Amino acid sequence: MRKLTYFIACSIDGFIGDPGGDAASMYPFVDEEFLAFLKAEYPETLWTPGRRALGLDDLPNKRFDTVIQGRGSYDLALKEDNTSPYAHLREYVASGTLKESPDPNVEIIADDLVGKVRELKAEDGEFGIYLCGGSQIAGELLDEIDELVIKTYPLVYGTGMPMFGSGFAISEFTLESVRTFGNGVLVRSYSRKR
Ligand SMILES: NC(=O)c1ccc[n+]([C@@H]2O[C@H](COP(=O)([O-])OP(=O)(O)OC[C@H]3O[C@@H](n4cnc5c(N)ncnc54)[C@H](OP(=O)(O)O)[C@@H]3O)[C@@H](O)[C@H]2O)c1
Repeated sequence: MRKLTYFIACSIDGFIGDPGGDAASMYPFVDEEFLAFLKAEYPETLWTPGRRALGLDDLPNKRFDTVIQGRGSYDLALKEDNTSPYAHLREYVASGTLKESPDPNVEIIADDLVGKVRELKAEDGEFGIYLCGGSQIAGELLDEIDELVIKTYPLVYGTGMPMFGSGFAISEFTLESVRTFGNGVLVRSYSRKR
């Protein structure tokens, strides 16, 4: 089985953005040290134009070959006229309103999201699936998540968009690694206890 990994940035109090989802206050923490980590360990999670600017265009994938995001998250790219933000991956966007894909590299999942994710997880292959977010789709896919990689920025929001837009339910995870950075960012990875 291929792993589904929710790789996500959040505040100390667990919000992935302000109440509208805006995470811009986290961007300044992507400094030289943290960017070097992302380039070395999670290069697939950088948008294609960012990779191009950093000279990473030809970098082979390290962990993922597929990305899944909700239409809310994909909208951020569309607003920048970027129809394929992860062109180095197979891209899936969950949406009931996007009737046609705006890009040949992007496949729309209009229904049976969980079924499609199970199908992707059952494929053979050494690479996993990057669940990009946002909150709503992560909530719907919580039971399918095998790994969490949480980038915590040293900010408290008080309120905001939760990591999972789902109801109360306890899921257990095992801490696998913790990495700290000079600017106060913390990256924890967890595997799911099944
Ligand atoms: N901090 C971070 O690392 C991070 C990462 C990613 C995103 N974000 C933030 O997250 C925000 C977006 O999160 P969100 O919760 O508003 O939206 P989202 O989860 O990205 O997308 C929700 C949309 O996905 C579609 N969808 C959801 N479930 C579906 C299903 N079962 N079948 C078909 N389509 C389905 C629907 O699209 P339709 O309305 O088209 O039907 C729904 O409106 C953005 O503002 C972004 O900034 C933060």
